[in-house]
Amino acid sequence: MTTGPRLLLIEDESDQRQLLQELLTLADYRVDACADLQQASDCLAKQVYDLILSDWKLQTGDGLAFFREQIQHKQDCAFILMTAYGDVSHAMQCLRIGLDDYLIKPFNKQQLLFALARSLQHRQLQQENSRLHADISQRHQLVDLIGAAPSMQQLYQRLDRIARSSATVLLNGESGTGKELAARAIHQLSARRDNPFAVLNCAAIPETLFEAELFGSEKGAFTGADRKLPGKVSAAEGGTLFLDEIGELPLSLQPKLLRLLQESSYQALGSNKECRADIRVIAATNRDLQEEVTQGRFRADLFYRLNIVPIRLPALRERQEDILLLARHFLKTFADKHQIPAPVLLPDAIKRLAQHPFVGNVRELRNVMERLLLLHDGHRVDASALEQYLQLDQQNSISLDYQLPAVGIDWEQHERSLLKQALEQADYNRTKAARLLSLSYKTFIYRLEKHQLIPAEKSDEQ
Ligand SMILES: Nc1ncnc2c1ncn2[C@@H]1O[C@H](COP(=O)(O)OP(=O)(O)OP(=O)(O)O)[C@@H](O)[C@H]1O
Ligand SMILES: [Mg+2]
Repeated sequence: MTTGPRLLLIEDESDQRQLLQELLTLADYRVDACADLQQASDCLAKQVYDLILSDWKLQTGDGLAFFREQIQHKQDCAFILMTAYGDVSHAMQCLRIGLDDYLIKPFNKQQLLFALARSLQHRQLQQENSRLHADISQRHQLVDLIGAAPSMQQLYQRLDRIARSSATVLLNGESGTGKELAARAIHQLSARRDNPFAVLNCAAIPETLFEAELFGSEKGAFTGADRKLPGKVSAAEGGTLFLDEIGELPLSLQPKLLRLLQESSYQALGSNKECRADIRVIAATNRDLQEEVTQGRFRADLFYRLNIVPIRLPALRERQEDILLLARHFLKTFADKHQIPAPVLLPDAIKRLAQHPFVGNVRELRNVMERLLLLHDGHRVDASALEQYLQLDQQNSISLDYQLPAVGIDWEQHERSLLKQALEQADYNRTKAARLLSLSYKTFIYRLEKHQLIPAEKSDEQ
């Protein structure tokens, strides 16, 4: 039995109909032949066709009018008209209304088969195109990044495209917008995906240890270096090195990174052996690096070397339509993780969610949803229930109304304790710890130094 394209043939001349049916069946088409438009409509109601081949002037109807009707009903197949009365201007007119081809009788077998094959191919390409288009315009996710807003579609396209190269990428965006997820997505979509993804958080490494962390160190390279240690560059060999919070990289270290980017070569601390690096560098910052350059805090040459492909992550308030999508995604993720059924957000809660400013972007939304899942009693969440979970962040940090005890406090001790707690909570990431106390990075470092709290910090490895 043939599995070729399905073809509906409409021809009122019985000899011609039979001849065409035999010829097309031999050419592997699955043909249903009709003598009039009523029969054709019945066939179309029961069967999906790849092609309709119809005579123009039928005894009981007009093949062209029938095509127009089918096109209006979005019948998604190829249309070919046959006629003994045609001329070029009529043919042009037919093609303009959406017909795929036009055959003037008499035509030979080759002409017929060629017209059918070409029309089918054309249709297939069109269908593929519109499917691809639909895929792109409806993408809700790229690797672990969630979002369907137009700004996310644009982001996905850029990440997809850039992943195919090994170009340096600079990711910019407010805190919590998904810069690290975007970096991981680039890595996952690239040819380097089976090799490591190493992370160096420039804000979490003391200046004195940075070079060793990045390039590795020989035994005895500095006090306490009792063995040879690999750095992040060699940990990322063949893969991707993610330099997070690049805006915090001290000026004194910037030339070393520039050399790595320009020459793909480096030396471990305490060694004079030149090593080659096969890595792709992705850097991220929530600072305006251009402004940092103007202020003299970031080297212009390093900025231009990093800024080859700048990609900006949109803030959550710029893509409000994604708030609900993300909220449901997190509820489901945490419900699976904690093995608790996910509660349902009622319409007024959904409305309230859309009004929240989410200054902490997706991270804040994620935290609110996890808290809600863990603390909420009941299966439904209304606006007032949601309110408590939305407010917790603000109560805990900004508007903590501290009551000074009557006996007073030891201010220095209090400050020291808060600094330590912030460091611990932020997993020794100083930028994040500073943010927890609403201090600028510089002020925070100044206070750490004052209390001699500059610790041996942890880097954020994957
Ligand atoms: N588009 C997104 N889809 C799903 N989760 C997201 C998205 N954006 C951010 N998140 C989640 O929010 C949290 C913060 O994301 P991420 O660490 O990538 O942000 P960031 O921009 O690097 O923030 P920071 O500047 O504070 O380091 C993570 O838990 C991440 O999983
Ligand atoms: Mg980050």
